[in-house]
Amino acid sequence: MIKVTLGDTDVMLRWATPMDGELLASGFKRLSAESRRMRFFSAMPRMPDSVMKSLLSIDPPRHFAVIALDASVMDSTPDSWFAAAVGVARLIAMPERPGASEFAMTVIDGFQHHGLGHLLFEVLLVTGAHVGVRTIEADVLTENAAMTALLHHYRSKSSHPTNDYTTTHTRVPVAENLDDIDPERRAMLEELIRHDPRLVPPEPG
Ligand SMILES: CC(C)(COP(=O)(O)OP(=O)(O)OC[C@H]1O[C@@H](n2cnc3c(N)ncnc32)[C@H](O)[C@@H]1OP(=O)(O)O)[C@@H](O)C(=O)NCCC(=O)NCCS
Repeated sequence: MIKVTLGDTDVMLRWATPMDGELLASGFKRLSAESRRMRFFSAMPRMPDSVMKSLLSIDPPRHFAVIALDASVMDSTPDSWFAAAVGVARLIAMPERPGASEFAMTVIDGFQHHGLGHLLFEVLLVTGAHVGVRTIEADVLTENAAMTALLHHYRSKSSHPTNDYTTTHTRVPVAENLDDIDPERRAMLEELIRHDPRLVPPEPG
Protein backbone atom coordinates (compact mmCIF):
# COMPACT_ATOMS: atom_id res chain seq x y z
CA MET A 1 0.00 0.00 0.00
CA ILE A 2 1.28 3.50 -0.76
CA LYS A 3 0.00 6.82 0.53
CA VAL A 4 -0.71 9.74 -1.80
CA THR A 5 -1.87 13.14 -0.56
CA LEU A 6 -4.66 14.83 -2.53
CA GLY A 7 -5.18 18.34 -1.18
CA ASP A 8 -5.90 17.82 2.52
CA THR A 9 -6.80 14.12 2.16
CA ASP A 10 -4.58 11.06 2.24
CA VAL A 11 -5.46 8.21 -0.09
CA MET A 12 -3.99 4.72 0.15
CA LEU A 13 -3.44 2.82 -3.09
CA ARG A 14 -3.10 -0.93 -3.42
CA TRP A 15 -3.53 -3.55 -6.14
CA ALA A 16 -6.86 -5.36 -6.28
CA THR A 17 -6.96 -9.14 -5.97
CA PRO A 18 -9.60 -11.76 -6.90
CA MET A 19 -10.54 -11.73 -3.17
CA ASP A 20 -11.81 -8.14 -3.24
CA GLY A 21 -15.45 -8.91 -4.02
CA GLU A 22 -16.80 -7.62 -0.70
CA LEU A 23 -14.84 -4.40 -1.03
CA LEU A 24 -16.06 -3.80 -4.59
CA ALA A 25 -19.64 -4.57 -3.53
CA SER A 26 -19.34 -2.08 -0.70
CA GLY A 27 -18.11 0.62 -3.06
CA PHE A 28 -20.86 -0.19 -5.57
CA LYS A 29 -23.51 0.26 -2.84
CA ARG A 30 -22.25 3.79 -2.19
CA LEU A 31 -22.36 4.78 -5.86
CA SER A 32 -25.22 6.98 -7.11
CA ALA A 33 -27.54 5.70 -9.84
CA GLU A 34 -26.06 8.31 -12.19
CA SER A 35 -22.46 7.20 -11.56
CA ARG A 36 -23.50 3.56 -12.03
CA ARG A 37 -25.05 4.49 -15.35
CA MET A 38 -21.90 6.36 -16.44
CA ARG A 39 -19.74 3.38 -15.53
CA PHE A 40 -21.92 0.45 -16.65
CA PHE A 41 -24.15 2.16 -19.25
CA SER A 42 -27.26 1.05 -17.34
CA ALA A 43 -28.86 2.01 -14.00
CA MET A 44 -27.85 -1.37 -12.53
CA PRO A 45 -29.63 -1.31 -9.13
CA ARG A 46 -27.63 -4.41 -8.13
CA MET A 47 -24.48 -5.78 -9.62
CA PRO A 48 -25.06 -9.00 -11.57
CA ASP A 49 -22.87 -11.94 -10.54
CA SER A 50 -21.45 -12.08 -14.07
CA VAL A 51 -20.20 -8.49 -13.79
CA MET A 52 -18.68 -9.10 -10.37
CA LYS A 53 -16.98 -12.22 -11.73
CA SER A 54 -15.39 -10.29 -14.58
CA LEU A 55 -14.29 -7.46 -12.24
CA LEU A 56 -12.55 -10.05 -10.07
CA SER A 57 -10.81 -11.83 -12.92
CA ILE A 58 -7.61 -10.00 -11.97
CA ASP A 59 -4.63 -11.58 -13.69
CA PRO A 60 -1.70 -9.14 -14.04
CA PRO A 61 -0.33 -8.01 -16.37
CA ARG A 62 -3.29 -8.98 -18.61
CA HIS A 63 -5.84 -7.49 -16.21
CA PHE A 64 -4.82 -5.36 -13.25
CA ALA A 65 -6.77 -2.99 -11.03
CA VAL A 66 -5.85 -0.43 -8.41
CA ILE A 67 -8.04 0.35 -5.40
CA ALA A 68 -8.06 3.71 -3.59
CA LEU A 69 -8.94 3.86 0.10
CA ASP A 70 -9.68 6.99 2.14
CA ALA A 71 -7.02 6.89 4.86
CA SER A 72 -9.13 9.01 7.22
CA VAL A 73 -11.74 6.27 7.69
CA MET A 74 -9.36 3.31 7.91
CA ASP A 75 -8.42 1.63 11.15
CA SER A 76 -7.06 -1.85 11.80
CA THR A 77 -10.40 -3.64 11.23
CA PRO A 78 -11.24 -5.15 7.81
CA ASP A 79 -14.75 -3.64 8.02
CA SER A 80 -13.28 -0.15 8.02
CA TRP A 81 -11.50 -0.98 4.76
CA PHE A 82 -14.84 -1.70 3.08
CA ALA A 83 -16.13 1.70 4.15
CA ALA A 84 -12.87 3.32 3.03
CA ALA A 85 -13.04 2.18 -0.61
CA VAL A 86 -13.39 5.35 -2.70
CA GLY A 87 -12.16 4.42 -6.15
CA VAL A 88 -11.02 1.72 -8.51
CA ALA A 89 -9.42 1.73 -11.96
CA ARG A 90 -8.48 -1.17 -14.20
CA LEU A 91 -6.75 -2.03 -17.45
CA ILE A 92 -7.60 -5.13 -19.44
CA ALA A 93 -5.50 -6.14 -22.44
CA MET A 94 -7.32 -6.43 -25.78
CA PRO A 95 -6.08 -9.78 -27.09
CA GLU A 96 -6.97 -8.97 -30.67
CA ARG A 97 -4.86 -5.77 -30.60
CA PRO A 98 -1.45 -6.23 -28.93
CA GLY A 99 -0.37 -3.05 -27.11
CA ALA A 100 -3.95 -1.84 -26.62
CA SER A 101 -5.78 -2.12 -23.29
CA GLU A 102 -9.28 -1.20 -22.23
CA PHE A 103 -9.67 0.97 -19.13
CA ALA A 104 -12.52 1.51 -16.70
CA MET A 105 -12.62 3.59 -13.55
CA THR A 106 -14.99 4.71 -10.83
CA VAL A 107 -14.74 7.22 -8.00
CA ILE A 108 -17.42 7.20 -5.28
CA ASP A 109 -19.67 10.26 -5.61
CA GLY A 110 -18.66 11.80 -2.28
CA PHE A 111 -15.02 11.70 -3.34
CA GLN A 112 -15.37 13.03 -6.88
CA HIS A 113 -13.78 16.33 -8.03
CA HIS A 114 -10.79 16.01 -5.69
CA GLY A 115 -8.30 14.77 -8.25
CA LEU A 116 -8.64 11.05 -7.50
CA GLY A 117 -9.73 10.34 -11.09
CA HIS A 118 -6.51 11.90 -12.37
CA LEU A 119 -4.43 9.95 -9.85
CA LEU A 120 -6.05 6.63 -10.83
CA PHE A 121 -5.63 7.36 -14.53
CA GLU A 122 -1.95 8.12 -13.96
CA VAL A 123 -1.60 4.75 -12.18
CA LEU A 124 -2.94 3.15 -15.37
CA LEU A 125 -0.56 5.13 -17.59
CA VAL A 126 2.60 4.46 -15.56
CA THR A 127 1.78 0.80 -14.95
CA GLY A 128 0.61 0.28 -18.51
CA ALA A 129 3.96 1.60 -19.76
CA HIS A 130 5.73 -0.99 -17.59
CA VAL A 131 3.84 -3.88 -19.13
CA GLY A 132 4.00 -2.81 -22.77
CA VAL A 133 0.66 -1.03 -23.16
CA ARG A 134 0.81 1.63 -25.88
CA THR A 135 -2.80 2.87 -25.92
CA ILE A 136 -5.47 3.00 -23.22
CA GLU A 137 -8.97 2.95 -24.68
CA ALA A 138 -12.62 2.85 -23.73
CA ASP A 139 -16.11 3.51 -24.94
CA VAL A 140 -17.37 6.44 -22.86
CA LEU A 141 -20.93 7.77 -22.80
CA THR A 142 -20.85 10.97 -24.86
CA GLU A 143 -22.76 12.73 -22.04
CA ASN A 144 -20.06 11.79 -19.49
CA ALA A 145 -18.63 15.29 -19.08
CA ALA A 146 -16.34 14.47 -16.14
CA MET A 147 -14.64 11.54 -17.85
CA THR A 148 -14.34 13.48 -21.10
CA ALA A 149 -12.80 16.47 -19.28
CA LEU A 150 -10.35 14.20 -17.51
CA LEU A 151 -9.29 12.38 -20.67
CA HIS A 152 -8.81 15.67 -22.49
CA HIS A 153 -5.72 16.26 -20.31
CA TYR A 154 -4.11 13.11 -21.70
CA ARG A 155 -4.13 13.82 -25.45
CA SER A 156 -7.24 11.71 -25.97
CA LYS A 157 -8.51 11.10 -29.49
CA SER A 158 -12.16 10.22 -29.99
CA SER A 159 -14.36 8.65 -32.62
CA HIS A 160 -18.02 7.73 -32.66
CA PRO A 161 -18.49 3.98 -33.02
CA THR A 162 -22.27 4.17 -33.21
CA ASN A 163 -24.50 6.19 -35.48
CA ASP A 164 -26.58 7.59 -32.62
CA TYR A 165 -23.54 9.28 -30.96
CA THR A 166 -24.43 7.94 -27.50
CA THR A 167 -20.91 6.63 -26.94
CA THR A 168 -17.48 7.87 -27.89
CA HIS A 169 -14.53 5.55 -28.41
CA THR A 170 -11.56 7.26 -26.79
CA ARG A 171 -7.87 6.38 -27.16
CA VAL A 172 -5.10 7.76 -24.98
CA PRO A 173 -1.46 7.25 -26.01
CA VAL A 174 0.64 6.05 -23.07
CA ALA A 175 4.24 7.08 -23.81
CA GLU A 176 3.39 10.66 -24.82
CA ASN A 177 1.81 11.36 -21.42
CA LEU A 178 4.43 9.98 -19.06
CA ASP A 179 6.69 13.05 -18.94
CA ASP A 180 3.76 15.27 -17.94
CA ILE A 181 3.15 13.34 -14.70
CA ASP A 182 4.56 15.06 -11.62
CA PRO A 183 7.97 13.39 -11.00
CA GLU A 184 7.31 12.90 -7.26
CA ARG A 185 3.98 11.24 -7.99
CA ARG A 186 5.52 9.11 -10.72
CA ALA A 187 8.19 7.87 -8.30
CA MET A 188 5.45 6.87 -5.82
CA LEU A 189 3.58 5.02 -8.55
CA GLU A 190 6.79 3.21 -9.56
CA GLU A 191 7.02 2.12 -5.92
CA LEU A 192 3.44 0.78 -6.09
CA ILE A 193 4.31 -1.19 -9.24
CA ARG A 194 7.16 -2.89 -7.38
CA HIS A 195 4.58 -4.29 -4.92
CA ASP A 196 3.42 -6.75 -7.60
CA PRO A 197 6.28 -8.59 -9.34
CA ARG A 198 3.93 -9.53 -12.18
CA LEU A 199 3.89 -5.86 -13.21
CA VAL A 200 7.67 -5.50 -13.30
CA PRO A 201 9.20 -6.60 -16.61
CA PRO A 202 12.12 -9.05 -16.29
CA GLU A 203 15.63 -7.60 -16.49
CA PRO A 204 16.97 -7.84 -20.05
CA GLY A 205 19.39 -10.75 -20.55
C1 LIG B 1 -15.15 10.13 -14.20
C2 LIG B 1 -14.66 10.02 -12.77
C3 LIG B 1 -13.85 8.75 -12.61
C4 LIG B 1 -13.78 11.25 -12.45
O1 LIG B 1 -13.32 11.12 -11.12
P1 LIG B 1 -12.92 12.40 -10.23
O2 LIG B 1 -12.23 11.91 -9.01
O3 LIG B 1 -14.09 13.27 -10.04
O4 LIG B 1 -11.88 13.09 -11.22
P2 LIG B 1 -10.96 14.37 -10.99
O5 LIG B 1 -11.42 15.13 -9.79
O6 LIG B 1 -9.54 13.92 -11.00
O7 LIG B 1 -11.19 15.19 -12.35
C5 LIG B 1 -12.47 15.28 -12.93
C6 LIG B 1 -12.48 16.27 -14.08
O8 LIG B 1 -13.82 16.33 -14.55
C7 LIG B 1 -14.28 17.67 -14.44
N1 LIG B 1 -15.70 17.58 -14.22
C8 LIG B 1 -16.34 17.00 -13.21
N2 LIG B 1 -17.67 17.10 -13.40
C9 LIG B 1 -17.84 17.74 -14.56
C10 LIG B 1 -18.97 18.13 -15.30
N3 LIG B 1 -20.21 17.86 -14.88
N4 LIG B 1 -18.77 18.80 -16.45
C11 LIG B 1 -17.53 19.06 -16.92
N5 LIG B 1 -16.41 18.69 -16.25
C12 LIG B 1 -16.59 18.05 -15.09
C13 LIG B 1 -13.50 18.25 -13.31
O9 LIG B 1 -13.50 19.66 -13.35
C14 LIG B 1 -12.12 17.66 -13.64
O10 LIG B 1 -11.61 18.32 -14.78
P3 LIG B 1 -10.19 19.02 -14.77
O11 LIG B 1 -9.20 17.91 -14.64
O12 LIG B 1 -10.10 19.70 -16.09
O13 LIG B 1 -10.16 19.93 -13.59
C15 LIG B 1 -15.86 10.06 -11.77
O14 LIG B 1 -16.64 11.17 -12.06
C16 LIG B 1 -16.71 8.81 -11.80
O15 LIG B 1 -16.36 7.78 -11.22
N6 LIG B 1 -17.86 8.87 -12.48
C17 LIG B 1 -18.79 7.74 -12.52
C18 LIG B 1 -18.21 6.52 -13.25
C19 LIG B 1 -17.66 6.89 -14.59
O16 LIG B 1 -18.11 7.78 -15.28
N7 LIG B 1 -16.60 6.17 -14.99
C20 LIG B 1 -15.99 6.38 -16.28
C21 LIG B 1 -16.45 5.37 -17.27
S1 LIG B 1 -15.04 4.42 -17.78
